Amino acid sequence: MNILKKRSWELPGRDATPEHVFLNRRQILAGMIGGGVLAGSGLGVRPAFAEEDPSAGLYPVSRNPAFKLDRELTAEDIASKYNNFYEFGSHKQIWPAAQKLQIRPWTVTLDGLVDNPQIVDIDTLLSKMPLEERLYRHRCVEAWSMAVPWSGFPLAELVKLAGPQSGAKYLRFETFLEPSVANGQKQSWYPWPYVEGLTLDEATNELAFMATGVYGKPLAKQFGAPIRLVTPWKYGFKCIKSVVRVSFTDQRPVSFWEEIQPKEYGFWANVNPEVPHRRWSQASEKILGTDERRDTLLYNGYQEQVAGLYKDLGGENLFM
Ligand code: MTE
Repeated sequence: MNILKKRSWELPGRDATPEHVFLNRRQILAGMIGGGVLAGSGLGVRPAFAEEDPSAGLYPVSRNPAFKLDRELTAEDIASKYNNFYEFGSHKQIWPAAQKLQIRPWTVTLDGLVDNPQIVDIDTLLSKMPLEERLYRHRCVEAWSMAVPWSGFPLAELVKLAGPQSGAKYLRFETFLEPSVANGQKQSWYPWPYVEGLTLDEATNELAFMATGVYGKPLAKQFGAPIRLVTPWKYGFKCIKSVVRVSFTDQRPVSFWEEIQPKEYGFWANVNPEVPHRRWSQASEKILGTDERRDTLLYNGYQEQVAGLYKDLGGENLFM
């Protein structure tokens, strides 16, 4: 109990290390070599972004103009060096460690209450899906935000591929489990693998997106390569990275953070500036890479597209 409390998400965004204090790449690599982190990793001292992704030729894809931003895009160098990916550590500078992730071969299992259960290879999936770019806001529950050009396809297309049966009410997403690669998964007090869930209605909303690229390229590993969920009206922890399995079920999935700390993280996790986290306000957000704070918007500004999903769910805890 004590351990869980100590290991739970203790840092509100306002207390987190300011992003301009990031270690630069040279310091990180020097530190890793000094600490023996790279030994046996196969990485040597190659620059972390050098590896060619076999899907690189697919990008950039054309931008869908329907998704507009009210702010500047976050610079790639900022967004790609300030990440939450607990599989590789419980701090923001996990990007060097994440380069150990092997993203080929990679398959995604579609199973559960579906007519077309299958294990689909990521490159086959990419060849079947209508790829497009969307500019989305991203609001972390820690009260920081960014704006990102994701490439990928609507989650509704994946749902169509699986063919849900009438009993399917929820999608349960799962991340890879490979503690030999992802050191964080050796921390047994976390309930690995990372799991997230959506209702079928949420999954088929036009905003729900499977990202396979970002900044006009395949996803960098720290963003959750080769495929991750993006639900911009919800807190960022719903956006599960490096997905290997999507199961269709009649049971509401219990997510990673909900299992760790159910009083603070729930199933719905819709952004609402008027509903504070138990330990900090959600009224405003720090814009990553700037000194600016902005008022947070209901449903992160996407209420027009998503408010209808929740109109008959008055008894539910929709905002945690
Ligand atoms: N997915 C996995 N598998 N593991 C994680 O630790 N962190 C979540 C989410 N998806 C996480 C994850 C959280 S808390 C956030 S805010 C976003 O990823 C961060 O995405 P970013 O690193 O691309 O900004």
